[in-house]
Amino acid sequence: MIKLDNFSSFFVANWKLNGNFQFIDQFINNVSLPTDNSKCVVICPTSIHLDYMSKNKNGFHVGAQNVSEYAEGAFTGEISVHSLSDLNISFCIVGHSERRQIYREKDKGINLKSKRLIENNVIPIICIGETLEHKEKGITKEILEEQLMHSIPSSSSFENSIIAYEPIWAIGTGLTPTFEEIDETHCFIREYNEKFNKYKILYGGSVKASNAREITDLSNVDGALIGGASLKSEEFTKIIGD
Ligand code: 13P
Repeated sequence: MIKLDNFSSFFVANWKLNGNFQFIDQFINNVSLPTDNSKCVVICPTSIHLDYMSKNKNGFHVGAQNVSEYAEGAFTGEISVHSLSDLNISFCIVGHSERRQIYREKDKGINLKSKRLIENNVIPIICIGETLEHKEKGITKEILEEQLMHSIPSSSSFENSIIAYEPIWAIGTGLTPTFEEIDETHCFIREYNEKFNKYKILYGGSVKASNAREITDLSNVDGALIGGASLKSEEFTKIIGD
């Protein structure tokens, strides 16, 4: 398992349902890794492209976007943690809001997926976040508490898991909380349970070249989870810095 403490920051590219072989070749040619090797840059392509990315990773780390909560068996279309291990995949996003909202994933299943990943030395990047409605009702903290309490397995620790805070209203919208709000929410997550104190906590939602530095420099932020801007080589190179 990757030693998370070896890194000062994490930049995780979530390509969602985008990219193909040609795109990966161009990306690897055009995006230069930072000279600062305390920055961990993780690319999460579609599952079909994990093998190719893994064989051509050129210094990038590779992560999956999802895994089955089941180890094996009659679950058509699912991808098992053993398949990820076979490809030496180091990270896996779990509980992304698109999975929670579109595919109705619940905290219990997210907990199980994370547990399986940890057992197999793959680091889950466990996503939590509130909707605009939650925010407007002023119940963000209650929602995050609920997600933290139920989606993070007891086997999780700062050494084997990462938490990602992604306000749903900030994903793909160009909107972000203020820097103070981001830091305050990350601080809230850290303090919610003593156990989370030493966790790497990433921020996601409309991270781009023009705000990445200020966000990742916040004292309670250990990196970023990046969607749209991670598909643009030049923009992503600026985000990860040098
Ligand atoms: P955007 O960076 O496109 O807002 O997406 C964020 C995200 O969902 C990363 O997981």
